Amino acid sequence: MMNDIDHILYSKEMLEGIVADLGKQISEDYKDRKLLMVSILKGSVVFMADLMRHITIPCEIDFMATSSYGSSTSFSGTVRILKDLDRDIRDYDLLIVEDILDSGKTLNYLMDLLYARNPASIRICTLFDKPERRQVDIKADYKGISVPDEFIVGYGLDYAEKYRNLPFIGVLKKEIYEKSE
Ligand code: IMP
Ligand code: MG
Repeated sequence: MMNDIDHILYSKEMLEGIVADLGKQISEDYKDRKLLMVSILKGSVVFMADLMRHITIPCEIDFMATSSYGSSTSFSGTVRILKDLDRDIRDYDLLIVEDILDSGKTLNYLMDLLYARNPASIRICTLFDKPERRQVDIKADYKGISVPDEFIVGYGLDYAEKYRNLPFIGVLKKEIYEKSE
């Protein structure tokens, strides 16, 4: 698995610091709110697990799964809901927890869908952001780091469902995805 990684971009320790800072900020901003953290599966599962342990106020969690990429490294144009939320979100302050904001199309679609269910508020927390790749007007309210336009894997992020279990963020060797596209 390590042979497929060109170089490490963020170590486990760097990620821990970034996630702790986000958790502190969110805990301050959401005290006295009805916080529901919504993790977008599967990429954000590692981030979610770490982030929620840095939340020091009462909160609930839920999960949603979408599919749009297949095994390609760019957006295919459609978003499918593979798993919906378990509850009615009226009156909840939703915090969408996403691994990476790229074109923005996935979250743009999800925001419209969730707003229609009348939550008290919706904000986005993304660990990574690729702002120069954005195709729709969407911004994260909480953001870990802006990353260069390279395909990254690890810490939950995959390429063709692999590499999610790497504890760091690495840049995938180009030959890995070029040979299969
Ligand atoms: P968007 O709709 O283009 O913003 O898609 C965001 C989703 O694409 C993320 O939740 C990831 O699942 C996936 N994605 C985008 N860039 C990367 C990357 O560099 N590595 C792994 N997954 C990525
Ligand atoms: Mg994802």
